[in-house]
Amino acid sequence: MHRFSLLLLPIALTLGAVSCGGAATDAKKDSDKTAKTDDAKKTDEKPEADADADEGPADPVLIERGRYLAEVVMNCRACHTPLSESGPDLDKAYSGGLEYPDTFGTWRSPNITQDQRTGIGGWTDEQIINAVRRGIRPSGEQMYPVMPYEYFAAASDEDMKALVAYLRTIKPIDNAVAGNTDLKLTKPTPPEPTGEPPLPEPVAEGKYLVELAHCGDCHTPLGADGRPDQSKLFAGGRAYAALPFQGEGQVWSANLTPHPTNGIGKYSDDELMTAITELDKRDGTAIVGPMTFYVGAWSQLKHKDVKAIVAYLRSLPPVDNAVPKTTWKPQEAGG
Ligand code: HEC
Ligand code: HEC
Repeated sequence: MHRFSLLLLPIALTLGAVSCGGAATDAKKDSDKTAKTDDAKKTDEKPEADADADEGPADPVLIERGRYLAEVVMNCRACHTPLSESGPDLDKAYSGGLEYPDTFGTWRSPNITQDQRTGIGGWTDEQIINAVRRGIRPSGEQMYPVMPYEYFAAASDEDMKALVAYLRTIKPIDNAVAGNTDLKLTKPTPPEPTGEPPLPEPVAEGKYLVELAHCGDCHTPLGADGRPDQSKLFAGGRAYAALPFQGEGQVWSANLTPHPTNGIGKYSDDELMTAITELDKRDGTAIVGPMTFYVGAWSQLKHKDVKAIVAYLRSLPPVDNAVPKTTWKPQEAGG
């Protein structure tokens, strides 16, 4: 009982309690629901959604690993949560509907709560894993690679099991989101995941985390074919426009290779760790643009994980690619 309560508390907090005026009753409802889930687990009653996970009651350690992946490393929550005027609307976490005006068209994220009708509550574990690592829906349809499945393909089978265990704990929210059409983004051949975990050494673990955090997705420019330019992996220069609530202007992703002048060559390990977890650049300015979306998450990365990420970035071949200076003007505070 105690173990479950402790583990479910942060989930209830993130899902329910971060809210503005008028949501107190919702928060209470959420905690009631959490309590019910807790009871269901206690009496060994399998919730319907667990039906094909024939391993009995979900393991709290596995769920916590899944939460760390979904909320901290892989950022499912950042993309799959709609925005209120001031930022992500965490009362509606995972219910989709975020609209992001990108250079290839405005994309919308689907509802990935456990709702049967409008979410993924009716999907089997296998179908969810296939969506996350290969970008294929139960209907067989291939997703646009805005959903970073080309990077998530690196995830181990064990981590996928943890992720699914956590997703099953997300409260259902009824929210139908229209699908994406007409994005000017080329769909890749679905990846073939190996399911292997990384070797237990920092560079390999860092590579694994960098894939799951899909740093390369933003930090690799798109070629003329609408696919990441393989000659400029991690070399930066992908363009992003500001979201209305963030400000105006354009920002180009940074060169993350250890090039001495155009990359992160001059950064110390500590400075790099600060840039990733606090968005403070070495030159004293703040990182702006889409990466700020993820800072709430990456500020919670385990120290050893950030160190591994840095070790991997240092191991990349330096690419000489100068990135334009941002024209981004952050929105005035207090408006
Ligand atoms: C960069 C933003 C982003 C991140 C991060 C992200 N997604 Fe997605 N996801 C999307 C978008 C956009 C789509 C819709 C793609 C399309 O329409 O082709 C999608 C589609 C999906 C779908 C298919 C849902 C449906 O109804 O078709 C699932 C399931 C999913 N994501 C789960 C996840 C999980 C789990 C994670 C974290 C491991 C995650 N996503 C991380 C943006 C994201
Ligand atoms: C959603 C897109 C996105 C993702 C994902 C992303 N970044 Fe960034 N990052 C950017 C952009 C855009 C900039 C440039 C910001 C600026 O100029 O203010 C940037 C800047 C940086 C910088 C500052 C470098 C400098 O020039 O001083 C570092 C370091 C960095 N990112 C590391 C990472 C790492 C490591 C990851 C993965 C854990 C990552 N980023 C994931 C978009 C992203």
